[in-house]
Amino acid sequence: MNANSKRLHVITWGCQMNVYDSGRMADVLAPLGYAPTELAEAADMVILNTCHIRDRAAEKVFSELGRLRLLKQAREAAGGQMVLAVAGCVAQAEGAEILARAPYVDIVLGPQTYHRLPEMVARASRAAGAVIETDFPTEDKFDFLPDATAPTGPTAFLTIQEGCDKFCSFCVVPYTRGAEQSRSQATIVAEAKRLVAQGAREITLLGQNVNAWHGAAADGAPGTLGRLIEALAAIPDLLRIRYTTSHPRDMDDSLFAAHRDIPQLMPFLHLPVQSGSDRILSAMNRKHTAAEYLNIVERLRAARPDIALSSDFIVGHPGETGADFRATMALIEAVGFAQAYSFKYSPRPGTPAAAAQMQVAEDVKDARLQELQAKLRTQQAAFNAACAGQTVDVLFTGPGRHAGQLGGRSPWLQPVHADGPESLIGTVVPVKIVTGNPNSLTAMLPSHPLEQERPQA
Ligand code: SAH
Ligand code: SF4
Ligand code: F3S
Repeated sequence: MNANSKRLHVITWGCQMNVYDSGRMADVLAPLGYAPTELAEAADMVILNTCHIRDRAAEKVFSELGRLRLLKQAREAAGGQMVLAVAGCVAQAEGAEILARAPYVDIVLGPQTYHRLPEMVARASRAAGAVIETDFPTEDKFDFLPDATAPTGPTAFLTIQEGCDKFCSFCVVPYTRGAEQSRSQATIVAEAKRLVAQGAREITLLGQNVNAWHGAAADGAPGTLGRLIEALAAIPDLLRIRYTTSHPRDMDDSLFAAHRDIPQLMPFLHLPVQSGSDRILSAMNRKHTAAEYLNIVERLRAARPDIALSSDFIVGHPGETGADFRATMALIEAVGFAQAYSFKYSPRPGTPAAAAQMQVAEDVKDARLQELQAKLRTQQAAFNAACAGQTVDVLFTGPGRHAGQLGGRSPWLQPVHADGPESLIGTVVPVKIVTGNPNSLTAMLPSHPLEQERPQA
């Protein structure tokens, strides 16, 4: 091992933006000699990239810190060191509390300052006492980050927009990630080309409000996501494009047109609705009604008939009555989701809903969540089951769980398993779906011997 080489271990919670950020933090630290390791105990530096979205997410950080403290002490006792950094949204929201509860932490940094990591590491090794960087800097971190160098697999994330100006009543993101900011089309296209040159065949464009993207287009004027996707679709060998997470308010004509006209744009959209009750949507400050959401779904299906939908739901927002909850169940019934995430409302410090009257009792939230999840599970199982017998294009992304098996994704983001050679990884192959399981699809390659033996129906 090179004397200069150090080991970096990164633990990531939260959304895909954190996954992307963790990769970029590794890129920033690579020139300092840090190479990734899967083993925390072997690491000279550990970064916890944290999520503050719900209470449980934030609490995990403190239990992980307790474990790392012991590893850090053991390394120091053996004459080594372990720089411990807490990054991400908990760091942004609770930087001071982290240092009070875990004084052995060396660096606390928010999501907008990680381009300064090399300087922070240098300061942390010089100084006694922790380094804390949770301002929203005036410079744009993207101007200071090195080009992404880490090899990517067939699928990659690309952050195009950050932050949120929507201020939904329940949500910490506008406070942890700051105001909406869009990168320019030129920098996004350049990064996409590099990712494709490194082997990416599918890129998921990321943003807390990705369809509010309004970065400078080729002519310098503010662009739209639909036109950006059009520009990306011109990159040879970029076979699939996705984007997440969208807000219903920002679905514009260019995006519907992109779903209609651009075959590389996959027929799957994660479009959080949160609730089906107009009263609760208004209390949430979502600025759209249930009917408007249903209208968007209708327009999407008209543009791209095979599109499948996913969503996020919150049950038990302050003031939610039984009738409000029934309205959410009715919306789910009306749409028919292929997949969804659902959560019990979790009061977050500093958000308006946390201070609201009429908090919903925990047992009521539990019962509603169970009923809602049962319904969503049924819809997902039905969607998967309906795929059986169909021939579906799958992008193989890596080996499957057992020898000889490949794993990949359908156009609708379902995990797909099929027996086949590793040479197919990174290619899109039409496969026959044999079974639609509750959470995945089992498929067979067209040339598979068992498939050939089958009698023709
Ligand atoms: N930007 C996206 C989602 C961001 S957070 C959007 O606007 O929809 C991801 C999901 O976490 C949200 O869609 C919401 O369903 C959930 N969530 C956010 N804050 C929450 C809270 N306080 N309690 C429970 N769920 C929450
Ligand atoms: Fe949070 Fe609402 Fe912004 Fe989504 S749109 S990140 S839920 S404030
Ligand atoms: Fe969590 Fe921050 Fe993402 S709070 S969901 S990591 S934007």
